[in-house]
Amino acid sequence: MVSYKELGLVNTREMFAKAIKGGYAIPAFNFNNMEQLQAIVKASAETKSPVILQVSKGARNYANPTLLRYMAQGAVEYAKELGWEKPQIVLHLDHGDSFELCKSCIDLGFSSVMIDGSSLPYEENIALSKKVVDYAHQYDVTVEAELGVLAGVEDEVASEVSHYTKPEEVIDFATRTGCDSLAISIGTSHGAYKFTPEQCTRDPKTGRLVPPPLAFDVLDAIMEQLPGFPIVLHGSSSVPQEYVDMINKYGGKLPDAVGIPEEQLRKAAKSAVCKINIDSDSRLAFTAAVRKVFAEKPGEFDPRKYCGPARDLMEELYKHKIINVLGSDGKAE
Ligand code: G3H
Ligand code: 13P
Ligand code: ZN
Repeated sequence: MVSYKELGLVNTREMFAKAIKGGYAIPAFNFNNMEQLQAIVKASAETKSPVILQVSKGARNYANPTLLRYMAQGAVEYAKELGWEKPQIVLHLDHGDSFELCKSCIDLGFSSVMIDGSSLPYEENIALSKKVVDYAHQYDVTVEAELGVLAGVEDEVASEVSHYTKPEEVIDFATRTGCDSLAISIGTSHGAYKFTPEQCTRDPKTGRLVPPPLAFDVLDAIMEQLPGFPIVLHGSSSVPQEYVDMINKYGGKLPDAVGIPEEQLRKAAKSAVCKINIDSDSRLAFTAAVRKVFAEKPGEFDPRKYCGPARDLMEELYKHKIINVLGSDGKAE
């Protein structure tokens, strides 16, 4: 058993309370490899933004759980080396799908876990989430639970239809599970295809798809039921068109990829939404940069020569999110 406190990590409790009060949101960036982690730490350290390093079950299997934990410990030390005296870094399990997986992460040094019982019947979701909370709280690890289902792939937890969170259920759910934060469904979804062309309108000038707005009325009703309670938004990539265009220009094929407009995320960040999950945008930046090098320098075979530019582009993306979308810069001086 390793305590996250020994690794220099923090849980989300204080971070979320401050974010709600301050009207900003904490970035939760997924990582699978060294370049992503370097870019996240550099962007957070240079902007002094609290940050959540997210690891999915798939990432954990891809990278190796022990290696990931030491990488997170390394992230804290790297942040200090970059001049961030008191880094506020959370290591979080994204979309945990069983008690055993959550326990294993807690025992390994994670400071926060998500138990995603959103595809289960209501009572089963409550029972599973409560079991994780009871274990996690013994070690001061914070727990995110989910109510409502997002369309798209959720790491083993899949649903074809988007079911918004029912505001009338949230008090009962939060009280009976004891969760520290609640992931809700208000129209976001995972991946680079968040809306079908049929759900969107087209901008006559650019020909680009314009997605429908998020269900802010549902968010308002949830906040009315649970004033001041930390709310989490998954599936919050914006799918920047410049990356999609770069990918398509250099041999990729991502027709009609569309994400959540940044103005809507800015609006959400000012509310009780205090954690915003971003994974796909980083994947797009990485892929765009790598494709460009491959297309322009077909003779290049040193991974540092294409992973380096990918890392730089991801760092730029993370800083942009922190400063211009979530407003978390300078909140962890
Ligand atoms: O919500 C899903 C995250 O983007 C993680 O995706 O399961 O492919 O690692 P993954
Ligand atoms: P995106 O696919 O929109 O980046 O969402 C990521 C996410 O919700 C991770 O849990
Ligand atoms: Zn998610």
